[in-house]
Formats: sequence, C-alpha cells, structure tokens
Amino acid sequence: MNKKFKVIPPPFKIKVVEPIKITNRATREKAIKKAGYNTFLLHSNDVYIDLLTDSGTNAMSDNQWAGIMLGDEAYAGSKNFYNLEKAVKEIYGYKYVVPTHQGRGAEHLMSRILIKKGDIIPNNMYFTTRRIHQELAGGIWMDVSIAQAEQPENWHPFKGNIDLKKLEKLIKKHGAKKIPYMSIEANINMAGGQPFSMKNLKALRKLCDKYKIPIMLDGTRLVENAYFIQQREKPYKNKSVKKIVKEICSYTDGTTTSGKKDALVNIGGFLACNDKKLFTEAKSLVVVFEGLHTYGGLAGRDMEAMARGIYEMVDDDHIAARVNQIEYLGHKLLEAKVPIVVPIGGHAVYLNAKRFLPHIPQNLYPAQALAAALYIVSGVRGMERGAVSVGRDPKTGIERKSKLELVRLTVPRRVYTNLQMNIVAQGVIKLYKMRKKISGLKMVFEPKQLRFFQSRFKPLKNKLIG
Ligand code: F0G
Repeated sequence: MNKKFKVIPPPFKIKVVEPIKITNRATREKAIKKAGYNTFLLHSNDVYIDLLTDSGTNAMSDNQWAGIMLGDEAYAGSKNFYNLEKAVKEIYGYKYVVPTHQGRGAEHLMSRILIKKGDIIPNNMYFTTRRIHQELAGGIWMDVSIAQAEQPENWHPFKGNIDLKKLEKLIKKHGAKKIPYMSIEANINMAGGQPFSMKNLKALRKLCDKYKIPIMLDGTRLVENAYFIQQREKPYKNKSVKKIVKEICSYTDGTTTSGKKDALVNIGGFLACNDKKLFTEAKSLVVVFEGLHTYGGLAGRDMEAMARGIYEMVDDDHIAARVNQIEYLGHKLLEAKVPIVVPIGGHAVYLNAKRFLPHIPQNLYPAQALAAALYIVSGVRGMERGAVSVGRDPKTGIERKSKLELVRLTVPRRVYTNLQMNIVAQGVIKLYKMRKKISGLKMVFEPKQLRFFQSRFKPLKNKLIG
C-alpha cells in the first residue's frame, strides 16, 4: 500500500447485518450467460459483493430508521414533507422544494418546463438520465467539459470543470436565448466521480450572469464534490463540507437531485430552485407525473428518511471516511498497476477497459466484457460505462463514439467493510493477470432507450474467458 495513504476510520458501528451468499464460479458462469452478459440482468442473489451502483443501496442509520416509523402517510400536507423542505432549505439553501420519486423524476419536470424544441443545453459531460430528458424535451445536449475529463490517466484535480471558452463560444454561436440553462453536474459520474472547483464555478456564474443564463445543478453527488474542494482547493481547507455545499448552491439557481446517493436513502429525489415561476410550474406538473406536490411519488416515511439523511450526509467525519474507502480500493489497484481512472473518484473506482483489454476493439464492447468477466472470476458486480452506455445519436441513430471505456466499481455508503474491498481488489488483480484470455462481445438485443440497462450479448468465441 502507498505509504502516504492513511485509512480514515468510519464513524459508525454495525447494528444489523444482511446475509450474502458466497457463490462459486460454475454457478456464476451460468448466471451471467442467462443474464445475456449484462450485469444489470443478474439476480442480486447471485452476487457476492454488489458494486453495481451507489444508488439507493446505502445503509440507513438508526436515526433514519426511527424516522421511518414516524411516517405521516396523509395524502396532503404530510409533516414529513415539511421536514424535508426544511432540510433542503437549511442545507442546500434553495427557496422552493418539490419532492420526486427519484432524481430522474425531477429531471423530467425541469426539462419539460424549461426546454423548447431546438434549444441547446450545455453540460459538463453527461449523465444518462439527465441527457435523455433534455433530448426528449426537444433539447440538444452539448458537452462543455474540459478535455481532461475524458483522459483517464490525467491527474487533473478538477476534471468536472467547465471549459469556459468553449461555453462562451457556444453562447455566441447560438445566442443566449437558445440556451434555457447551463447544466452542471457535481462530481461527474461518467468521468469517474470527478469534481468541479469552486473557482471554476464562480467564474461560470460570472459568465452566465453576463448572458443571463441560469445555472441548474445536478446535485446528486454534491457532498462528494464539496469534500474534494475541501481537500484540494486551498481557501477551503478549513471550511466544513456543510458550508461548502451551501456555497456551491449559492452560485446556482436550482437543482435536480437524486436522494439515493449523498442523502443516504433507498428512494427519493427533489427539484429545488429560487425562481417562483419555475417552482409554480413544477408544482403543477409534479401532480401529473409523480404525485401531489407534498409527496411527489414518495411515502411520508421515505421523505422523513431523506430529510434525516440530508443532515447526516454533510458530517465531515462521515464524508471523509466514505471517500477514503474508495481511495483504499483504488490505491490497492494502482499498486498492482491495474489501469484505473485517476484521480480516484468520490463514489467509485473505474477500471479503464481500453487499457485493461487492449486486444478487444471498442465495437466488441470491452468494458461490457470486463464487467461480465469480473463477475465470473470474483462474484463482484460492476457496471459498464462506455460504448454501450453512451448509446446512439438520437438524430442519426449511429452509435456515439465513447472516448471512455470504463467499468465502474461503485461503493454503496456504509455497507461494506475494507476487508470486502480487499476481496474486490484481489478479484480485479487476478483477472488482470489473465486478461488476454477474455474475448469481446456482440450485442444480440438492444432496447430503444438507455440500452445499457437491458441489452443482451454473446461472447465472440464460445466462452467469455477462454
Ligand atoms: N444524476 C446523476 C449524476 C446520477 O448518477 C443519477 C443516477 C441520476 C441523476 C438519476 O437519479 O437514479 O435517482 O433517478 N445514477 C445511478 C447510478 C442510476 O448508478 O449512477 P435517479
């Protein structure tokens, strides 16, 4: 282990355990074949360590579980809604809150309300659900992230930054009127869990003010972004994550947020903003697609758990230990010279499939093959984030080119121990040693939308690992 690396102890102990099955290779080979070599289609019973996602897979605290028992399931005006509203106002600082069943519910509302056909929406890279809602509303997604975001081996500390020159060029070309908002994601998921800096965000605010363009934040992993600002940006060294979170939000006009990540719950999300008109429209539309504006598709108990999670997520000891666990896994892989995305991300370690499996061309989906092979060898479930996830251009139907070809090993919050991280590392390293034996995949079924969830594959040769 890197001598400089220090383990940060987690500020909790385990009160309840959930048994998991230790599986064998023959069973896993059968299971992945049945699942069409897509880890999304595996039964979770067949998985030993589940690193598919950190979304909704978090362990709630005793305080959150206690809140579940205080669910007020009134159809209208549940007290839990007011607790949630208070938590969002206090921690994020936005004026208005509309709950939704999860993040994409809020993305749907915001896109429908703000985007007109032919509008341009600049983003720092993309997240699958956010982009598809922008496109379904008639918008054109544009990437204005810095080039380093797509360079897995570049140690740039803020790969989530916006390329302000690129953005200004875009505004000048299309005119500010064509841009309903600037869309910025905290700790960009698809780039490897990479943050933007406060300096860049402040400069973005200035530029957007010049052209009167609002900034809408994807606050799904905002706390992890704030933690990296505290660790990497000098003026913030002694500021609490809580204060940094609030400052980030103060430079933006609203957010769509999935509560299933930072906020330590299994379900929930919200749209929040400072503009009364947007709020009024969101309140009226949420009734059509999610539920009344005081529950947005959630049970009262879910809102209570999220409200409590929002206070817990900004605890400095919690977030330091959370990110440290991912760094622990990442350092073990770096030490064994396994190609991963650097800097190590806030919610996941990303294997660089292009370098892991250089013998598999991208049209044979190396990251998809790597995720399936890792499952076979170790029982660990990861997720493809490359050519399959990037999908097709909505206009031409041609497969989009993906510079990144990654497998995400996403660590749920407060769920696994570092001993289990050792097991994950051992599995990846074992696979790396036999990487030449892994073959490519051909796609045999492709759904229309967000194809990575349900597409099916077959190995090029008889067996995936020959
Ligand atoms: N934004 C980001 C950055 C996300 O990572 C997600 C979900 C969403 C929005 C949508 O939120 O799932 O609550 O509807 N990401 C999950 C993942 C699915 O595995 O990364 P949701």
